[in-house]
Amino acid sequence: MISNIEFNFDPAATPIWPVRSADLAAWQAAHPGPMSAWCDSNDFTAVAGKFIRLPGDDGTLAGVLLGMGEGGDKAADYWAFGSLANALPPGLYRIEGDLSSAAQSDLADHAALAWAQAAYRFTRYHSNDDAPSGDGSDDSDKVARLCLPENTAAAALQGAIKGSFLARDLINTPASDMGPEELADAAVALADEFGAKANVIVGDDLLAENYPAIHAVGRASTRAPRLIDLRWGEGDAPRLTLVGKGVCFDTGGLDLKSAAGMLKMKKDMGGAATVLGLAAMIMAAKLPVALRVLIPAVENSVAGNAFRPGDVLATRKGLTVEVGNTDAEGRIVLCDALAEADSDDPALIIDVATLTGAARVALGQDVPAIFTGSDDLAADLMRLGETLDDPSWRLPLYAPYKERLNSKVADLNNVSDGPMAGAITAALFMQAFVSQPDRWLHMDSYGWNDRDRPGRPAGGDGLAMRALFALVKERFA
Ligand code: BES
Ligand code: MN
Ligand code: ZN
Repeated sequence: MISNIEFNFDPAATPIWPVRSADLAAWQAAHPGPMSAWCDSNDFTAVAGKFIRLPGDDGTLAGVLLGMGEGGDKAADYWAFGSLANALPPGLYRIEGDLSSAAQSDLADHAALAWAQAAYRFTRYHSNDDAPSGDGSDDSDKVARLCLPENTAAAALQGAIKGSFLARDLINTPASDMGPEELADAAVALADEFGAKANVIVGDDLLAENYPAIHAVGRASTRAPRLIDLRWGEGDAPRLTLVGKGVCFDTGGLDLKSAAGMLKMKKDMGGAATVLGLAAMIMAAKLPVALRVLIPAVENSVAGNAFRPGDVLATRKGLTVEVGNTDAEGRIVLCDALAEADSDDPALIIDVATLTGAARVALGQDVPAIFTGSDDLAADLMRLGETLDDPSWRLPLYAPYKERLNSKVADLNNVSDGPMAGAITAALFMQAFVSQPDRWLHMDSYGWNDRDRPGRPAGGDGLAMRALFALVKERFA
């Protein structure tokens, strides 16, 4: 799976020294000769993110210096290892200097993660691509590989990389090949890999099993809607339930999106991809939780049998919902999944959804919005996000805005009556379907990285997955 990381440390590998500007002179003094001279003749000053290849006595590559500028003390500074992974010649490398000490193992793990993620490619539709695949094929002679010291938490790192690559692949795959059925297949394959149980309720069975809202949104597609239900772990462990929005394509429904608005809507199952990636991390790390993953998988399509503006929908919880806008479909499918998640009283429910454009207006692409009734949950996740450079930011479940969802004909409307606070009113709609908001965390994510950055290739991205994993681990392990 990981083609450019090796868990066998080899002291003969080419060293990479991360070095702060202030420490460069001392480093040069400790490494006199061609390496130090080469730094001077190239005016290398250890600016953050800049690197230089260093010659040995015979002129061959003897090491690499990676500038840390004034930094070097936090995870964000180590994404630069991602640019090394793609820029250095094929061969075996190791991290040298302060980072190789056990005390710095979190930063070294982050450097390794950046290195591994830099190798991610979505090659499914490339008819001729010899770039490293990251899919298990042996590319080791073609790439710069990083070998890691014994103190590396290998299983955790492998889990993080697996989760990240899985989420990316699921999101990047176009809707033509990632419909509700294929998304369910991917979940079942993941369940099989880790000995989890999977159950999928398909099409009209959703009506028989009382998931009317999922059915209503998904019924207009030629590809039947479904609810994916995965369970893993010991029954007596604390229960953790993950819910992910699995809208495999969002046309907006009869309230059709514009061309620009529809363009990237293959990623509207980004919440499902994120929770599946997170589930992979949790199962790979064997965290002591009884895990459940619920994914309503639908396509929001236009057809004669599509749900309409003005329709009143039944929901699993029993609340009736007036459809103010068919493009606010995510909260409708999620409300049935949340009601089911709530029914066996888990210690924590986490849902992830590409729910609103408003959350992106508020916080941009990189920072998912989080909502919860628990101050501790919010603070913990934001703190872990800061440490791991995997951020999210809390917005309020501001109760006075609930009345914006009032309906004259039903218990509530699926959209608010005005243009403001769209992410908050969406979260308040969801809150109506959970009984204990302090045991619930809702994340409104973009599921996508718009621009290539070192260690963070552009495209589908399970944002905040590592921070969520750290939160679960801190609470339950
Ligand atoms: N999937 C979209 C939200 C979205 C759009 C996320 C663009 C990320 C990028 C969601 O189903 C949607 O269409 N939401 C509407 C809600 C509105 C109709 C109240 C939105 O945000 O415009
Ligand atoms: Mn929509
Ligand atoms: Zn959507």
